[in-house]
Order: sequence, then C-alpha cells, then structure tokens
Amino acid sequence: MRPFGIRRKRRDSATTDNQHQIIQHVPDHIAIIMDGNGRWAKARGLPRIAGHHSGMLAMREVVRACDDLGVKYLTLYSFSTENWKRPRQEIEYLWRLVDEFFALDIEELVERNVRITILGDTTELPAPTQATVNRALQLTASNTGLRLQFALNYGSRREIVEAVQAISEMTVLGNIKPEEINEKTFSDALATKGIPDPDLLIRTSGDQRISNFLLWQIAYTELYFVEEMWPEFKRRHLEDAIRAYNARERRYGGLK
Ligand code: IPE
Ligand code: IPE
Ligand code: MG
Repeated sequence: MRPFGIRRKRRDSATTDNQHQIIQHVPDHIAIIMDGNGRWAKARGLPRIAGHHSGMLAMREVVRACDDLGVKYLTLYSFSTENWKRPRQEIEYLWRLVDEFFALDIEELVERNVRITILGDTTELPAPTQATVNRALQLTASNTGLRLQFALNYGSRREIVEAVQAISEMTVLGNIKPEEINEKTFSDALATKGIPDPDLLIRTSGDQRISNFLLWQIAYTELYFVEEMWPEFKRRHLEDAIRAYNARERRYGGLK
C-alpha cells in the first residue's frame, strides 16, 4: 500500500518548477530549521500541537520534494536539546508525532530508497519512540538514495563537547598527539562524520538565528530565512530557496 500519489523522479541536477524556470543546480545537502509551528497554530486559534501536526505534513512534502529533485542529504532539525524546556504535554505530543510519521511513511521512504539516520541522543526518548526510530534506521540502513538525517534531541554545543571528550580520550590513550589534531580529526569526531557540510540552510518563521544547530558544519553554508511558518512551507518555497542559492556566489574567503 502506498498512501501517496505518483512521484516523478529526476535524478539529473537540473529540473524545472511550476513556472518552468530552470533550477540550475540542486544543492547536495540542505539543512532546515523547521520553525513556527506554534505561531502558525496560534494565528488560527488552534492549540500548538495542531501546528506540530501540520508541520509534520509539511515535512513529509519537503522530504518528497528533496528526493524528487535529487538532493543527496537532507538534515531536519526536529527537536533540540533545549526543547526539553517546553511543557510536558507538548513534548509528549512531539514523540507521538515521530511515531505517526514513521508508521505512515516508512513504507514510502523504503520504496524511495531513502536512508534514515539520526543526529542526537535518542536514548533519552520514550521507549516506544526509540523502538520506532530504531526500526526506521534498520529498515533503511542499506538504502543508497536520499540520506535523511533527523536532528532529534540534538544540540550542536553538546555535539562539540562530546567530540572534545572523544579526542581527549584518544590523546590520553596515546592514539593521537595534541599537535596532530586538525580540522579533519575534529569533523570526524562529530555526529556528522562523513556527511558533507550543508550547502544551504533554510529557517522558516522569520526568526534569523541558528538555535544551536550544526554550528561547526555551517561555517560556509548559505543561509536562507523565510517569513513563512513551517506548516506553510511548500515545494515551491523549497524551489525558491534553491533558486536563491543559485544566485549566490560562494567564495570561501577567496576571490571570484
Ligand atoms: C518548531 O516550531 C518545532 C519545534 C521546535 C519542535 P515551534 O514549536 O518552535 O513553533 P514556534 O516557534 O513556537 O512558533
Ligand atoms: C529550533 O527552534 C529547534 C527546532 C526547530 C527543532 P526553536 O523554536 O526551539 O528555537 P528558538 O527557541 O526560537 O531559538
Ligand atoms: Mg520555535
């Protein structure tokens, strides 16, 4: 059973949007701070959790769109280490949504050859949610298509501190000398080991901040902020973001 419609698949790096404008180059790695669910709901007189549910539907569409466009890595900020400060009921609903998303979508994701991975510590999640997540990881472990990373109970500062701990351990054991530690050593000690840095980071909801997401990895990422709340973010907004990305000139400190 596939609950969702026919998809088109364009694995080349050029594609077109509804207005038949060319998107010249699809970024390899897109990272998204999916923000504004609560404000979207509040503006409609709905409870915050209704915003999260609509946000999950928006996420599903964006995953499909990225896969259709041939994005190689999609990293979605789903729950931060700071989000534990929220009311217990809201947090519990978010875990229920994780369960719902994987229950409904895992079949399609498997069929799309999507590989799911996690950034963050899932051992702090409720046991049923951990089981759901682990099942999704197992079912997609050998897939070779879109790499879909959920940042779930993720915080970049925590990730960096853990990397420092791991490298310190290596020096204590004599496996590496302090003067041998370089940027690659450090990158390889992060949860994102082996994943190229994001090319494009999108944040919805009008807030222009990073909120402890991928601090090391976004050193030269193109940042794109949109006013739309996450539940309003559609395929065409993603295509707008990719077009804006194409209009940027990435210099990495060098000259044109
Ligand atoms: C983002 O939407 C989803 C999560 C952080 C889980 P918010 O819940 O932060 O929505 P706003 O920012 O309060 O509108
Ligand atoms: C960032 O949004 C985290 C996620 C989208 C999961 P927040 O809503 O938690 O960020 P702040 O608190 O506005 O910085
Ligand atoms: Mg928010």
